[in-house]
Amino acid sequence: MVLDFSLICCRSSCRMDGDGIARGDLSMGQNSRQHWSAARYAEAAHFVPALGLPVLELLMPAAGEHILDLGCGDGVLTEKIAAAGATVVGVDAAPDMVAAARARGLDARVMAGQELTFDHEFDAVFSNAALHWMRPAEKVLAGVHRALKPGGRFVGEMGGHNNTAAIMVALRAVLARRGLEARQLSPWWFPSADAYRAKLETAEFTVDDIHIVPRPTPLPAGLEAWLDTFTEDFFGALPPSERMPARTEVADLLCPILMDETGTWIADYVRLRFRATRAC
Ligand code: BEZ
Repeated sequence: MVLDFSLICCRSSCRMDGDGIARGDLSMGQNSRQHWSAARYAEAAHFVPALGLPVLELLMPAAGEHILDLGCGDGVLTEKIAAAGATVVGVDAAPDMVAAARARGLDARVMAGQELTFDHEFDAVFSNAALHWMRPAEKVLAGVHRALKPGGRFVGEMGGHNNTAAIMVALRAVLARRGLEARQLSPWWFPSADAYRAKLETAEFTVDDIHIVPRPTPLPAGLEAWLDTFTEDFFGALPPSERMPARTEVADLLCPILMDETGTWIADYVRLRFRATRAC
């Protein structure tokens, strides 16, 4: 039997545009409807910065360096970069997260990753668990490139291809029952190493290292708290009375897949980790 590969993954909901983003997803300039609460984040997602140490090691911040933390959140990792003796500026689009970072005594500013205003200022730009919220990537990368001094480095980690795949499938199934297409609502993009390398090179970075790292991630506050913290773009599209039943359905679908024998929820995180240099 001869397989016709042109027929594989050719349903309209699966076609990609040049950005690797499924057609019909959020339009490129559209922002997420997610509201960020520093208190809720600290309760349900404190593992995010705690698990960011490998990418911090890849950054190797040195005393005297000037470093931009892109998507700094509440500043937990920004503080560690400062502790290495670097001067750090943190930026985040969420005012409540920036307020929490400032409360740590950090120089943190409200600024979207697509609207960076810096010009040849930084020795390095660092980003952990934030770039998958920022589209279009081209605009972000142009701003990072402009922000760096020539030869400066861009070191980051984000959700990579297949990140939270089971969660995405469950969201898709539950929303489809209610007439909604989850892919159109998704604020995220999770590129493969090849796809992001191409974006970096087009933006005039030399890629020193880029790879995918599967990282099953325990959710200390459980899946429902994770859904409450991160998935407003999906559940917010439902009438209020439908949100809790839909969230319960998602958890019920995922329980046999993502809950281990001890009752701990373990999310199917996949990281894309990279180190690149501003080429010119
Ligand atoms: C992530 O870090 O991979 C992630 C966090 C929240 C929602 C989706 C992905």
